[in-house]
Amino acid sequence: MKILVINGPNLNLLGVREPAVYGVQSLQDIEGELVRDHPEVDFSFFQSNHEGSLIDALHETLTNACDGVVINPGALTHYSYAIRDAVSSLRVPVIEVHLSNIHLREEFRKNSVIAPVCVAQISGFGSEGYHLAVQTLYQHLTTAGHRHD
Ligand code: DQA
Repeated sequence: MKILVINGPNLNLLGVREPAVYGVQSLQDIEGELVRDHPEVDFSFFQSNHEGSLIDALHETLTNACDGVVINPGALTHYSYAIRDAVSSLRVPVIEVHLSNIHLREEFRKNSVIAPVCVAQISGFGSEGYHLAVQTLYQHLTTAGHRHD
């Protein structure tokens, strides 16, 4: 099963950026743990601080073998209709992840324009949220019978 994990703006700074909010692990630590803990999954990882590059990475799932996407769009979550439209153009399920609980923070973070076109939103479980998203996608895809081995 092939899963693409996408991280948006400022998530390259995980471990350095506001560790009390986002944790002490780097993005590389989190990606390494996903690979270690989910041997059944063939992962691709992509991070960018640029909206268009994230959209291009989402579009690539239309032509590359990919069974599902886990995305943390960072602050773009709250206002990027372009990312939302890219997600809703895909043929594979997408799960939105946030390390922090966006519903317990500033008003502007409470709304996600992307969640309505995702299978699920996972928010507030720290890095564990990426694992929950992968498990959920795996179960969803296994039940649906879609997979690229
Ligand atoms: C975030 C929450 C966003 O509001 C913020 O802009 C981020 C990280 C999270 O993972 O909690 O960059 O997506």
